[in-house]
Amino acid sequence: MSRMETTPSFESMLAQLTLEEKISLLSGHQFNATPGVPRLGIPPIKVADSINGIRPSDPSNDQTTTCFPSTTCLASTWDVELLGRLGEQLAHQAKLKSAQVVLGPTINIHRDPRGGRNFECFSEDTLLSGQLAGAIVNGIQKHGVGACPKHFVCNDSETLRHSYNVAESPHGRTLREIYLAAWQHLLRVSDPVAIMLAYNKVDGSFCSENKTLVTDILRKTWGYQGATISDWFAVHSTVEPIRAGLDLEMPFPINRGPKLLEAVRRGLVTEQELDARVTNMLRLRDRTKLSHQDNPERSELSEEANNLAYELASSGIVLLKNDGDVLPLDPLQTPKIAVIGEFATNPPMTGGGSASCKPQYSQNPVALLQSAFTAANPTSQVHHVPGVRTNAIIPIAPTSLLTSSGQPGATISYYNPNSTIPIHTTTLPTPHISMLGPPYNPPSLSPTTSHLTLTTTLTPLTTGTHTLAVRHTGALTLTLNSTPLLSAPQPDITTSDYLFHPALYESRLPLPLTASTPYLIHLHMSSRTALMPNGEPTPYGLTLCLEEESNPTAAIDSAVLTAFEADVALVFAGRNEQHESEGFDMDDIRLPGKQEEMIRAVARVAKKTVVVLYCGNPVDVEGWVDEVDGVVCAHFPGQEGGRAVVDVLMGGRSPGGRLATTWRRGVERSGSFGWFPAQKGEVVRYGEGVGVGYRRGDREGVRWGFGFGLGYTEFWHGELEVEVVEGMLRCVVRVGNKGGREGAEVVQVYVVPEREGREVWRPERELKGFTKVKLGAGESKKVEMEMDLKMACSYWDEKKRCWRMEKGTYWVQVGDQTKSFAVAAAAEWNHL
Ligand code: BGC
Repeated sequence: MSRMETTPSFESMLAQLTLEEKISLLSGHQFNATPGVPRLGIPPIKVADSINGIRPSDPSNDQTTTCFPSTTCLASTWDVELLGRLGEQLAHQAKLKSAQVVLGPTINIHRDPRGGRNFECFSEDTLLSGQLAGAIVNGIQKHGVGACPKHFVCNDSETLRHSYNVAESPHGRTLREIYLAAWQHLLRVSDPVAIMLAYNKVDGSFCSENKTLVTDILRKTWGYQGATISDWFAVHSTVEPIRAGLDLEMPFPINRGPKLLEAVRRGLVTEQELDARVTNMLRLRDRTKLSHQDNPERSELSEEANNLAYELASSGIVLLKNDGDVLPLDPLQTPKIAVIGEFATNPPMTGGGSASCKPQYSQNPVALLQSAFTAANPTSQVHHVPGVRTNAIIPIAPTSLLTSSGQPGATISYYNPNSTIPIHTTTLPTPHISMLGPPYNPPSLSPTTSHLTLTTTLTPLTTGTHTLAVRHTGALTLTLNSTPLLSAPQPDITTSDYLFHPALYESRLPLPLTASTPYLIHLHMSSRTALMPNGEPTPYGLTLCLEEESNPTAAIDSAVLTAFEADVALVFAGRNEQHESEGFDMDDIRLPGKQEEMIRAVARVAKKTVVVLYCGNPVDVEGWVDEVDGVVCAHFPGQEGGRAVVDVLMGGRSPGGRLATTWRRGVERSGSFGWFPAQKGEVVRYGEGVGVGYRRGDREGVRWGFGFGLGYTEFWHGELEVEVVEGMLRCVVRVGNKGGREGAEVVQVYVVPEREGREVWRPERELKGFTKVKLGAGESKKVEMEMDLKMACSYWDEKKRCWRMEKGTYWVQVGDQTKSFAVAAAAEWNHL
């Protein structure tokens, strides 16, 4: 018997815990951890964001990590096996950060293409989201680390996420067939140690205290036995969440701790209710036993992890348009290449918020293209121009332009109320301070009545109308050479805005400045006047920013000139973490800034134009797509993204991705348009019902459909065979590669229910199975897939509150083939 088998389980220690110890296990501490009980050897649990790159536990620590592609890229691989490998690597990465639970994957549905967090979610489809997320969960948990998929449920928009109410019944079709169904698929294939409950309300009740969702559906009907944890600062009361089944309040004991002790003493929470929650937290420790350790956190550069990051990126990149086979590029046929765009040298790797991370390195696509072209053709030429700007916020003023007290940077002085004598003064190279909740630094600083100053001398490089900007959490004044120029009130922001939406507290000042002339800048900022509500930390931050004047017309002219002289123009365009992030939704999905104008101008003169798009959400391409020859969706591809994009462009890799979400001809074509985001009064209505994504069925509104993606080879499908055997739907098809190079085909199985005599409206077709097949040139493979018949054919019956499979004829669609099958007997069911 091994030593581990002889150690008692943590779960068996319940009876030895005092009431206070039990309560301590039900809330977090230190932001990303929950305490242990050292007296009994019960360890703390450390959690870490995210599956796109495991971050250090202290949010203010900017330690690097392996940055994998964002989740929309992962989903576009449609590759269960590959994502399982990612999960295993994430377990290793979590151990490097000494964490026991990974906060992810995020499986909220891509309901609307403006959703700020869609880049960290998989798809508009329930099955694809659930099964791919499940593969990652299984991979993580294979190595003794826990996974915590999130956010249960309906956190599909960021606007007012802490308070909006999805006014839909959990017993209605929309919630069951779309939003809850993704979770059902996940839980059918995996058993995560924890699930994070969403911020928002559903049917009038916060998810953290929603008994119908957590106890009745998740635990009783679906039999989930893991732990439930709140999103950060998402708990609003003491008794209801305990009764509803929320095990852990994160990140601090705001509504628990002494309040919960009092509630137990007054009999508002019984010991039995408490014990049920504590048992789950003890069991979580048993299930993550293999990862309990508290080593210093570190970042490890590993070839294995980087190769996997590359494999994921190149398997997820989607080739959307390739007229006249403009791709792959051939350095002998088209030796002169114009590369245009800021993202060609500084490519976005991730979106923003808790799913972002600090990558270990960045790859420069222009440099990679140059060396690949030179290697293949020494006389080839690759020229780059940055083109128009893409930033949504003003960059931090560069240290090289600032001096203070004879040093590069800015001097900050901190003052307590009504005092003109600083309690602390320091000169920082970067004109930026960020403090989030106590302990503030300096430690005696009052969070609500203090003030500070920032002083520096700015010497611009160029002459022009530059933009000076300040991001500030309190009331601000700015003087330039002692002349007051700006005064701004305390911005109306939440803690979440502070973390994720800097544009909301940025005050801008256009200013004519002369090159090489020193300007004395003095900022004065007060602390916020009151603490943030609900125990959230009160931010205290100040950043001086500068953008020297740019001339978009000149930038476009130079792009045009470079493109004119080239054989092929490659435009690197899109969005970055400033546009797609946790904390806010986008207003529209067209390319930010003047990128569209630049693409059109380039396409007008270039012999051939290819656009590489960095994005988490679909882009509205209608304004320019017909004028270009090629479009590649690179997503946010992680730290190996440069190599992957260049290999796909050059043909070293055949693009392997298929869209996991429909790209429509404009945002107004999506079913949720008009219903998204949360309306005034904080109500969200799912007006489009189950018509989410391709389920809506309006072909003319679609630019590139769900499941679409081109490659450098072509595939054939043999005859599709379909049969029903013992409650399973079985599909068999042979798939072959008819091209001269290897490639990967995604076999997608859709079920189409009978139209005639149907009791309710149903989507035209729904994805019920998929598999990715890698095939060498000329190779073929027999693909066999089995699906649970009830799962494949049922809809949610709102009257009877159960799933219902009607008897009759159905069809299976694979590629361009459709075959019918019969369901002999109707069924009603309600379980996982
Ligand atoms: C996010 C979660 C994340 C948590 C901890 C919250 O703002 O919604 O997804 O895991 O922060 O970083």
